Amino acid sequence: MLNTAYASNFHAVTFSDFSLTLLDQRKLPHEETYLTFTDAESIAHAITDMVVRGAPAIGIAAAYGVVIAAHSQRQQPKLQLDDAIEQLANSRPTAINLFWALEKMQTVLNQYKNHSIDDQITALLTQAEHIHLQDIKDNQTMGTLGASLIENNSQVYTHCNAGALATGGYGTALGVIRSAARDEKITQVFAGETRPWLQGARLTTWELMRDNIDVTLVGEGGAGQLFRQGKVTWVIVGADRIAANGDVANKIGTYNLAILARHHGIKFMVVAPSSTFDLNIQHGDDIPIEQRSEKELTELQGLPIAPKNCKALNLSFDVTPNDLIDVIICEKGILKPPFNDHIKRLLSL
Ligand code: MRU
Repeated sequence: MLNTAYASNFHAVTFSDFSLTLLDQRKLPHEETYLTFTDAESIAHAITDMVVRGAPAIGIAAAYGVVIAAHSQRQQPKLQLDDAIEQLANSRPTAINLFWALEKMQTVLNQYKNHSIDDQITALLTQAEHIHLQDIKDNQTMGTLGASLIENNSQVYTHCNAGALATGGYGTALGVIRSAARDEKITQVFAGETRPWLQGARLTTWELMRDNIDVTLVGEGGAGQLFRQGKVTWVIVGADRIAANGDVANKIGTYNLAILARHHGIKFMVVAPSSTFDLNIQHGDDIPIEQRSEKELTELQGLPIAPKNCKALNLSFDVTPNDLIDVIICEKGILKPPFNDHIKRLLSL
């Protein structure tokens, strides 16, 4: 089993003996339940159903899903992984890390197509573990880079969960917050509730409290008044996909926060590894935005909260235009406007 113990004091994703174990994020913070998966189809469902979530963690889980699909065909004359890869690719549409990881796995398959099945599976496993470990390293690098910009006595606001739960470990936005808190630069973290899955209320608070980082939950819609009171100096968020021009798709509500932050003179930081950039998409308007079930809005844990047959629009992500972003932290460096040129230059390194 891969040693990721140094990345966080829990593991959202672990792989051993050709089975994938996921910390069931639907049950947190009240139950710490682990589910084990031994086929790619169930892993695809687990991604759709939010057992595992967060752009990098989805990519890592899918990469292990390909390894599991290959292992299940060990006795066959030839690996046929197209269906499994397609199922995994169809699990969620917005986070580019999913497609990036599957493409990496496909490249290994192409490279090893004339090798024995055992060698192909070993090569796939090596690649999946590399994706996993590299993500943790990148998060730690981004943590250091991002924390270098945070002033002493900062109060930061974060949205959704871009922590160890959403990545291989350590986190992107929460990685910066962890590093800055370790450097004693942060006096307070505010975690936005994040309707309807409540990633902020359930997950970010859980993660930070386990690390003894002072966190206060803020109700959905509460950011405006908080910002107005001068209680926040930085907004720090993750990303699901970043277009070539620096427009950022992230959890619904991020765009609102960026507008509020600009209005109140609060700096806005996005933290994402290079695997989150999609240079094939020039503009944020072309990023596919996941629309999830209406029930996630009209019901609360199975209980109806809206009138029967009430229509609902459950967009899971929004796009923050690049001109509202002060800085993007990537493992390759710190990106500042104008993003177009800087992104192209930095990602080609
Ligand atoms: O729907 P989710 O919970 O998968 O959305 C997660 C986010 O929006 C995160 O901010 C993003 O994936 C970055 S995680 C490091």
